[in-house]
Amino acid sequence: MTEVRQIVHELLAQLGSSREAQQYLKEFSTTNQARFAVVKIGGGILRDHLEELTSALAFLHRLGLIPVVLHGAGPQLDSALSDAGIETEKRDGLRVTSESVMSVARPLMYRENLRLVDALESRGIRARSIQHGVFQCKYLDRQSYGLVGEVEKVELGAVESAVSSGAVPVLTCLGESPAGQVLNINADIATRELVWRLRPHKVIFLSPTGGLLDRQGRIISAVDLTNDYEALMKQPWVHSGMRLKLQQINEMLQNLPDDASVSITSAAHLTRELFTYRGAGTLVRKGEAINVQENPDEESLVTVRELVEHAFGRKLRDDWFDELSQPLILLSETGRAAAVMSTGVDGLPYLDKFVVTSQAQGEGLGAAVWQVVTARYPALYWRSRNTNPVTPWYFQQADSSNRSGQWVVFTIGVEDVAGRERCVADALGRDSGWVAE
Ligand code: ARG
Repeated sequence: MTEVRQIVHELLAQLGSSREAQQYLKEFSTTNQARFAVVKIGGGILRDHLEELTSALAFLHRLGLIPVVLHGAGPQLDSALSDAGIETEKRDGLRVTSESVMSVARPLMYRENLRLVDALESRGIRARSIQHGVFQCKYLDRQSYGLVGEVEKVELGAVESAVSSGAVPVLTCLGESPAGQVLNINADIATRELVWRLRPHKVIFLSPTGGLLDRQGRIISAVDLTNDYEALMKQPWVHSGMRLKLQQINEMLQNLPDDASVSITSAAHLTRELFTYRGAGTLVRKGEAINVQENPDEESLVTVRELVEHAFGRKLRDDWFDELSQPLILLSETGRAAAVMSTGVDGLPYLDKFVVTSQAQGEGLGAAVWQVVTARYPALYWRSRNTNPVTPWYFQQADSSNRSGQWVVFTIGVEDVAGRERCVADALGRDSGWVAE
């Protein structure tokens, strides 16, 4: 077995499914080598999770994937400054950098940078420390912020040369003025500038929390900006730090190709995030529109038919769609998620089919289609088999559920008991449109 195949083997043993891992390995390997990923590492990770971090990066390197790494050192700098008795101040989220702050920050950045490079090299992974020459800056506003840089140009030479020689580039977020004065750059801003210049396929933020958190403190698996952004920004529980992060990510992705994505995860979950559909962390994508088609064209119908047949592993009759009463489809732009609606008992909308490919589920596309369906239809009903893996999820979405044999009938927004009973009776009596076996 070649070395790479053996590593893939190890990966599969860790993750369970070979198909998913192979698919992502192929996807990541086909992008231009220096454009696989930018990984931004907060100072806290370097301090507390160096072992997990280097193990995850080493793993990627052995698969032939070389991420461009950029790190901060915020928490380390806070404690070094307080040890040195130097007052620090943040203005608009930026650290005001006096000469005395810089005299502590600069050597500290170098030390942290080398700690990561050394840790990688001690695992036999080539890494290259790039402390200067990438971010060309002017003073942001010397009066107010001191030695803080505003990035004017990102020079990729050193990064590309590291990657093409097989070494992981490890960058600090220090820049220089044209005269060679070292300037401090906020790590998120440095990441954004690097990402815009490099245009990587993935942008990865490693944080100790391992993702964006919802109201209950649970990790939000996926954010689809097209469908979720505005609603999320309106939520009272989205606190200021997360609001800022979402804004920055939104702005970052708007300037990247449609298939680029951002993952926020922890060092320990990075491999799982990258090589499985469901991931482990928060995946943010630009997302895609969900189009409602009342008179679907032939092409969309074929897409939906294939999606349904593939997902359920059965064939639909040719007249399946035409037999539905007032059918309508909701179809995502890439054709990987769809819902088919028709009119049922009491004129209520009946959800005839709901399908999402596994990969699109991991991107949150199923939830996006579901949102469009429920926003459009305040009341609806549908049925699902006990054995359908989506059934547990339907229980969470529905207002009422009624088990009968192999089926569960669900409703949303059907208030009266008699009405719900009519929905149950109608749903149970329905034909699915499958070719008889
Ligand atoms: N492995 C894929 C990627 O990295 C999908 C990850 C899905 N992650 C998630 N948190 N939903 O692009």
